[in-house]
Amino acid sequence: MLEKLKEIKIIAEQKIAEISDIDEVNKLRVRFLGRKGEITRLLRGLKDLSTEERVCVGKAANELKEKLERMISEKAEEIRRQEMAARLSLEKIDVTLPGFPFLGGAKHPLSQVSDEIRDIFIGMGFNVAEGPEIESDYYNFEALNVAKDHPARDMQDSFYIDEDTLLRTHTSPVQIRVMEQMAPQIPVKVIVPGKVYRRDDDATHSPMFNQVEGLLIDRRITFADLKGVLLEFARKIFGQDLKARYRPSFFPFTEPSAEMDISCVSCGGTGCRVCSNSGWLEILGAGMVHPRVLQYGGYDPEKVTGFAFGMGVERIAMLKYGVNDLRQFFDNDWRFLRQF
Ligand code: DAH
Repeated sequence: MLEKLKEIKIIAEQKIAEISDIDEVNKLRVRFLGRKGEITRLLRGLKDLSTEERVCVGKAANELKEKLERMISEKAEEIRRQEMAARLSLEKIDVTLPGFPFLGGAKHPLSQVSDEIRDIFIGMGFNVAEGPEIESDYYNFEALNVAKDHPARDMQDSFYIDEDTLLRTHTSPVQIRVMEQMAPQIPVKVIVPGKVYRRDDDATHSPMFNQVEGLLIDRRITFADLKGVLLEFARKIFGQDLKARYRPSFFPFTEPSAEMDISCVSCGGTGCRVCSNSGWLEILGAGMVHPRVLQYGGYDPEKVTGFAFGMGVERIAMLKYGVNDLRQFFDNDWRFLRQF
């Protein structure tokens, strides 16, 4: 029987050395050490031996069992280590590879210009007011001295929700809303940034666009105040050496009314494509608040006067950045927007 044990030992050692798979390790354990394994089966014959032999063989068998147990465990451990090493080298992460570039966001150019306009007026002591984009005929037209059959309505044809409700065509209705809230307090000194809507659509007009309105009411406000404030504004936006001129114009809510031109930001006034060779660029409409509009707002035109103005943010942005198609601001093409 000792011979048989030696045989088992040689075969087992050889098999253990050969295998490289964790499943085979388990099979070997069953084959040699299991309850029906080779050593157990051999030990069943112990009862036929003499006491002396039994002790001797039993001891050798136990020693072999222990030895094989250890070898198999070590083998299993070795295989696990190899498998782990193989996986690690396969799933290795190269931390020196360059990462994915993340694009930094930025403010939309129209927001930048709008913020800049706002900051300049806040710097001159103006407050910021807002009003609804869905507006009544009363605030959008009537209280601004634009009667139902007034031809000035044609220029601001808009989107009507019903007979008396429309998407506002300008930010001017907020003049009335602010006056209603403030009257009879003075001074009123507000700007009103916001979206407006018109039935327009071409390279320089969009059905939705942004305006900034301005309104200043106080005692003895004159056209000279208007010119001073607007020149200061224009120079802050476009440059200190800029010149301005005012052409007579007409708005039902101001009297007198004017369009403000600035010397061309592209050629400085000598004439070029941007200013159609005139040397001048129109940037906003303005005027002295019409007495009737003051009354609609709750102010006494005998006691106070005021000036108002309105400008298109897109137009200012186009001139400032040399953009020739307004629709680019709304396309949201990254190649365009990233330049700002
Ligand atoms: N609301 C006018 C428009 O959208 C612009 C404007 C002109 C506003 C003169 C004013 C103003 O406050 O005084 O065309």
